[in-house]
Amino acid sequence: MLDIQGVSASYGKVQVLYDLNITAAAGEITCVLGRNGAGKSTLMRVIMGLLPTTSGAINLNDTCVSILPPHDTPKHRIALVPQGRRLFPELTVGENIEVGLMARSFKGKKRLEMREKVLELFPRLRERLKQQAGTLSGGEQQMLATARALAIDPAVLLLDEPGEGLQPSVVEQIQDVIRTMRAQGLAVVLVEQRVDAILSLADKAVFIENGRNLETLTQAELAADPGVIRRNLGV
Ligand SMILES: Nc1ncnc2c1ncn2[C@@H]1O[C@H](COP(=O)(O)OP(=O)(O)O)[C@@H](O)[C@H]1O
Ligand SMILES: [Mg+2]
Repeated sequence: MLDIQGVSASYGKVQVLYDLNITAAAGEITCVLGRNGAGKSTLMRVIMGLLPTTSGAINLNDTCVSILPPHDTPKHRIALVPQGRRLFPELTVGENIEVGLMARSFKGKKRLEMREKVLELFPRLRERLKQQAGTLSGGEQQMLATARALAIDPAVLLLDEPGEGLQPSVVEQIQDVIRTMRAQGLAVVLVEQRVDAILSLADKAVFIENGRNLETLTQAELAADPGVIRRNLGV
């Protein structure tokens, strides 16, 4: 269980997150929703240790991870598929996956096993192992960003608007992988804006507004009143 307790964070003097409380259980998809600028991507950065908390704590199964340097986050099995993908465009597909494997220092048999596991999820990437990442289609790049994150064998998978700008067929493939990860017991934290995706994936929806908790709803509550999504997002 990932437990975000009273977390605040700032860029310099500008505070962006205020006393946020969110839990994400293993084997569940926790959707984080909010308007543009609400602080969703900032929250992802804070969980990854890329931006320090100014107060509060983040615990993963009773280990405090909010005091770790960023390069230690993967060792605690937390992985992020960042908004906009952030691949190394000059590196090949295989090398980008290697970046994930190296973050956990996987070697020998374990390294080959993990590499095989992610390539089985994305056969398309296997066909393109030697191709430069920057030359892939948007959908393939999103698959690669997801594969790179899964290569660390995460217990917590964070995805920041993975469907942005992609064709429905690719969005569906990514959603299938997200469901598979849930079934394998990962705690999935999904930043998502599309109402249909939220309704079909979320076990829980956490709405944030101006960096603060607005409300948290279960899947049953969402299903009973889907309009709450649009009302809370102001769309
Ligand atoms: N690197 C940064 N430096 C200063 N302010 C930032 C930076 N990144 C984001 N912000 C600000 O923090 C707020 C939250 O941004 P962000 O977390 O990207 O929101 P969201 O992902 O919900 O759209 C916004 O007001 C944004 O302008
Ligand atoms: Mg964002």
